Amino acid sequence: MSGQIPQRFIDDLLARVDVVEVVGERVKLKKAGRNHAGLCPFHQEKSPSFTVSADKQFYHCFGCGAHGNALRFLMEYENLRFPEAVEQLAARLGMEVPREGADDPRAQARERKHKEGVNLLELSASYYRERLKMPEAEAARQYLAERGLSPEVQQAFAIGYAPAGWEALKRHLSERGITEAVQIEYGLLVHREDSGRTYDRFRDRVMFPIRDIRGRTIAFGGRVLGDAKPKYLNSPETPVFHKGRELYGLFEARQANPRLERLVIVEGYMDVVALAQFGIRNAVATLGTSTSEEHLGRLFRMVGEVVFCFDGDRAGRQAAARALQTVLPQMIDGRQARFMFLPEGEDPDTLVRREGPEAFEDRITCASPLSEFLFDHAAEGRDLAAIEARERFASQVLSAIGKLPEGVLKSLLLTELSRRTGVDQSRFEALVTPREEPQASPPLAADSGGDEASRPLPERRGGTTGGALSLMGRVLQLLVHEPRLVERLPEESDWYPGEEPDAWLCHEVERLLRAGRYRSAQVLLAHFHGTAEGERLAELARRELLIPPRARAAELDGLIEHFRRHLLRPSHQEEVDALLSKQQRGERLSQEERQRLMGLLTELKG
Ligand code: GTP
Ligand code: MN
Repeated sequence: MSGQIPQRFIDDLLARVDVVEVVGERVKLKKAGRNHAGLCPFHQEKSPSFTVSADKQFYHCFGCGAHGNALRFLMEYENLRFPEAVEQLAARLGMEVPREGADDPRAQARERKHKEGVNLLELSASYYRERLKMPEAEAARQYLAERGLSPEVQQAFAIGYAPAGWEALKRHLSERGITEAVQIEYGLLVHREDSGRTYDRFRDRVMFPIRDIRGRTIAFGGRVLGDAKPKYLNSPETPVFHKGRELYGLFEARQANPRLERLVIVEGYMDVVALAQFGIRNAVATLGTSTSEEHLGRLFRMVGEVVFCFDGDRAGRQAAARALQTVLPQMIDGRQARFMFLPEGEDPDTLVRREGPEAFEDRITCASPLSEFLFDHAAEGRDLAAIEARERFASQVLSAIGKLPEGVLKSLLLTELSRRTGVDQSRFEALVTPREEPQASPPLAADSGGDEASRPLPERRGGTTGGALSLMGRVLQLLVHEPRLVERLPEESDWYPGEEPDAWLCHEVERLLRAGRYRSAQVLLAHFHGTAEGERLAELARRELLIPPRARAAELDGLIEHFRRHLLRPSHQEEVDALLSKQQRGERLSQEERQRLMGLLTELKG
């Protein structure tokens, strides 16, 4: 089973298989015009927004954006890696999957290395587990007992022990033919540049294996037995481990209940394990980072409801506010996010032990819905009897609503905001609806072209017509209307997307404003008078700025953040989407692009 699968085989396979059939075996589909439609299997919904096109051999969900061909569907639905999905599709057609480059030494080496990596992490995990039974692990066992972890839960989470010596694991792995270079690459061995020495990264620690959704060990977290620092040590980033996307406990939660409907996000390893011990088996933890879009995307593909759990202190409220911003763009219909705050000085581990699991479950049940937290948070520290405070309150809520995708939640929040402020709802709608949807990525929209349900692409270029402004146009417009906002732009100008029509002009305007010579829009316009740039700026100045003054800074911040996130570093997912849709449009992918696509698909699943 080594070597790459030739692209022509994949093309051939896709030509013979019918996506409607593959999907239809797993999702109830009904014919709807030229397409088939059904309830999307990738997010929870009550009315069907999932379509499958036989003509295009493609599925697309207008709710959550999931889309792809038959292979992608199998990967997503069955949690398969790319080669496994190919094998499965081929098997149903009675085709044998050929492998190329079986005698290409580079392909062989790559393959060997991948196997070696997975293999060595598994070897290490079982080594740590074995060591926990040895006499040398007496103190570790004692520690785990003191923390109240039963043998069952220790086993369910495959908890182990890394012995105290400097080379225990290194020796164990080296004896099994694993080179030091690979041990270093996968974060188990530390290499000191100065002395050239190598030694075990994890020593005298209780070990928590971090497993991917299919149960393969991809990294470790290790805790000291006492109060030494650092308390926790995590594997570094490796070819198979990316801290910002993995969640501790996800595999274990799915093992305990494959039909999960809700997941609770807590902070620590111990919280996940302690809750599990008390029968609350749906907690996951980020690995010392705040919850990312990628984390949430992952969770929402599995469950319809996510509950964030935070400490009750100031840091906890701040973390919650960040989580709110991250989750807003993902709140399509059918999804729920809720927020719970623990009493000060407690974490889920201590609380579930003190109060018992029923009380903790009650807290989860009573967690604030997103809307409640949003309003509470915006009202915090404001006397809403005062008009100015009410305006700030409304601006904050509006800027959050602006981040929501179109849907029921958005309209409900607008209604509620109008109720709370006594301002007519249509006024607020005017403020939020002209926005473009920053989440609608061009490849997605392109996929749906030609469908009955397709929507027109939003106008993205900063043309001189009265159409919607591009995002960069909006940055520029904010600066023209309110030059002092220049102070909010990042010092480094690396966030400017080179290919955006207004980017150059915006940069130039920034330079002038920063130099301090132009502080009003009139002078700025005068500077560019008689040029195309001058026309553009004048046009932007004439356009009414629909954002209330107090929300403008936040709006600008949001736009810059968007450019940082989406344009500088397109995520792997976006890259895959772009490549797949290119292929779907019938454009040929270059050899390089194909390789990249295969690599990415494997990585996304791997
Ligand atoms: P216990 O003291 O064992 O109960 O830990 P905890 O699970 O309650 O963790 P805590 O609330 O102190 O920290 C939450 C999470 O932050 C941990 O699970 C780790 O992922 C991470 N973390 C905490 N301390 C450290 C540290 O010193 N280094 C690193 N890299 N991560 C840490
Ligand atoms: Mn704790």
